[in-house]
Amino acid sequence: MRWTPGLVLALAALAEAGDPPTYHEQVALILQERCQVCHRAGGVGPFPLESYDDAAGWAAMLGEVVESRRMPPWHADPQVGEFENSRRLSEAERETLLAWVRGGTPAGDPAQTPAPRTWPEGWTLGEPDVVLDAAAADVPATGVVEYVYSEVTPDLGEDKWVTGIEVKVGAREVVHHVLVFLKFPDGTHPRLKGGLKGYFASALPGDMVAMLPPGTAKRVPRGTTFVFQVHYAPNGKAQHDQTQLGLHFGDPQAVEREAQTVALFNTELRLPPGAADYVARARYRFKEDVYLYGLTPHLHLRGKSFDYVLIKPDGSTQEVLRIPAYDFNWQTTYRLREPLLIEKGSKMLGIAHYDNSPDNPANPDPSATVRFGEQTFDEMMIGYMDVYPVAGGRGGQR
Ligand code: HEC
Repeated sequence: MRWTPGLVLALAALAEAGDPPTYHEQVALILQERCQVCHRAGGVGPFPLESYDDAAGWAAMLGEVVESRRMPPWHADPQVGEFENSRRLSEAERETLLAWVRGGTPAGDPAQTPAPRTWPEGWTLGEPDVVLDAAAADVPATGVVEYVYSEVTPDLGEDKWVTGIEVKVGAREVVHHVLVFLKFPDGTHPRLKGGLKGYFASALPGDMVAMLPPGTAKRVPRGTTFVFQVHYAPNGKAQHDQTQLGLHFGDPQAVEREAQTVALFNTELRLPPGAADYVARARYRFKEDVYLYGLTPHLHLRGKSFDYVLIKPDGSTQEVLRIPAYDFNWQTTYRLREPLLIEKGSKMLGIAHYDNSPDNPANPDPSATVRFGEQTFDEMMIGYMDVYPVAGGRGGQR
């Protein structure tokens, strides 16, 4: 039997016509696979979804956020591209959860419940070659905490090739995202110009680990400074956090291709007060054949949507990522399931829309004219792209 989407829907409909799915038989497994990475004791989600009582107690809200697709948090339009770190529910999973809520949250047979899921403590990629500590932070029980920035310049001894990156946080409940930027010893940032910080890695709850594609590595020259940006979301309980970055180094001889993060960006933003749909565009031109494997759109609080469109040398276009409802709270890196071959001479067009009106609940000040800048009340328009050269070798898109 082939599991076509139509068949799955038909089965879901059948299931609904008969008995609703039960917690132990169907729902528990979906919650384990799709929710508990955040919704577990000590996780970043505001409550655990680890038992029948948890799930039944939150059923109404659970149904609401699944129906509206607000949870799990995943912002890419499913019509465009396929991403290995997608958190999106399949239609069958979504239907099962909704049918369970509509059916009055039956428990079912506890003997059928899946074994509880266990979560790795410590480093998932194994012991890193180097561990860097961001500044420790005391996170208050309530209120809004400004981003916490800190810098570390480790003594690496020599230039290093990074093949694996892992972020480990102390107080999982309150760390919403961690971004890491690099400053090279000469004061420049890798590949990016114009005062844009050299993006290195982003980590979100449930997505704090990244191995680079085999044979590729990111170059970190001796003397590089690592800049941490940690976003804390207080959860009612004062917490102490120590965020750490673990780096895995490759044998320089085995590195065939230098992975780089390049970016399209537009620093000429000028959002008029109250403008509900301000549009900014930017382009990046590829100077060699590359494989694209990751995308990280970056806007601030007025960001509304973000599209990446590839314009090939023959003029044809291909959408690569579409974020119809950008959410500043989720700084996701979208990792392509299959790296995308991009021919030399292609351009990536980034299109961002912004809402500077009072109707945007995240808008800190609708009366302001907003320009490009690094503060949260400024705006940004950056589309990071993780690439490596097809031809092999190191250096290139500098
Ligand atoms: C990547 C982490 C993550 C995953 C995965 C996730 N959640 Fe959440 N969830 C959160 C966070 C964080 C919040 C708090 C609100 C926010 O920051 O958006 C939340 C809030 C909620 C809420 C409360 C909504 C509200 O209005 O307060 C519900 C209900 C919920 N999640 C259900 C789910 C369900 C069901 C799943 C799985 C199908 C799921 N979540 C998967 C992180 C996650």
